[in-house]
Amino acid sequence: MGIEVEVSGQSCGALIRGVDLREELSPAQVSEIRGIWLDHLVVGFPDQELNCEQLERVALYFGVFGEDPYLEGLADHPHIAEIRREADETSSLFADNFHSDWSFLPVPPVATLLYGIDIPPVGGDTLFANQQMAYEALDAQTKDRITHLAGIHSARLGYAPQGRYGESDAGRSMAIVYSEEAMATHSHPLVLAHPETGRKALFASGAYTLGIDPNSLDAAEMTAEEAHELLIGLFRHQAQGKFVYRHSWSAGMLTMWDNRSVLHAATGGYEGHRRLLQRITIAPFDQPQPVST
Ligand SMILES: [Fe+2]
Repeated sequence: MGIEVEVSGQSCGALIRGVDLREELSPAQVSEIRGIWLDHLVVGFPDQELNCEQLERVALYFGVFGEDPYLEGLADHPHIAEIRREADETSSLFADNFHSDWSFLPVPPVATLLYGIDIPPVGGDTLFANQQMAYEALDAQTKDRITHLAGIHSARLGYAPQGRYGESDAGRSMAIVYSEEAMATHSHPLVLAHPETGRKALFASGAYTLGIDPNSLDAAEMTAEEAHELLIGLFRHQAQGKFVYRHSWSAGMLTMWDNRSVLHAATGGYEGHRRLLQRITIAPFDQPQPVST
């Protein structure tokens, strides 16, 4: 049986069937899947049954293991982090604001793999906002205005001691390690040309982008207020319903998305049910492997 693709019909997203990810994939299969992924930006593989080694093997077809600050990995598989919420958990929902994973790193992950283990019968969809589409929909003047601007990214709103998952975050079952290191910042262009397809995407999010880098080209002519207004306008623009794909989960589904092209956000609606997924972030092939401690 060959690979079958079911396109979502929304802004992005497709399901891939006809491939057993427990088995080693041929270079031709990997390249076909990579092509489908680059076209649709988010791909789900329903009805898989993967152990940690198999999940890691799939990840390594698409890059190398990424650095994962602030989430503690599994003891025997440090590159796998659990996205967990217990049935009786009352902490705030994790990651329910649009973001691109770890965009505050000097080299953010290109992709994320998320594998569904315990999936509630209702709720818990993941929203993906297609940022290539969001960029395309900007008027010419705004495109021109942001081409040479960079955004300042930081993990501080989430993972600093005073952040959302910091000292005052009580009763969370996920293994989050907040740190002063989250105060660090890194700048990235607001518009990224995809290294493989060349398609331009907006690269900023309310979760991790604190402001416009005053040192970026074209920022000098802008007042702080104008920069703030521009960014808020982009946040509002990029999350519009017309750019969003709603991804529904099932146990055994592996999902992979392109962090350079989409933002994502968690949703709730599954109170009283446990939800558990395993996650691996993927860095570009030319990145050195992070040292696990
Ligand atoms: Fe995320």
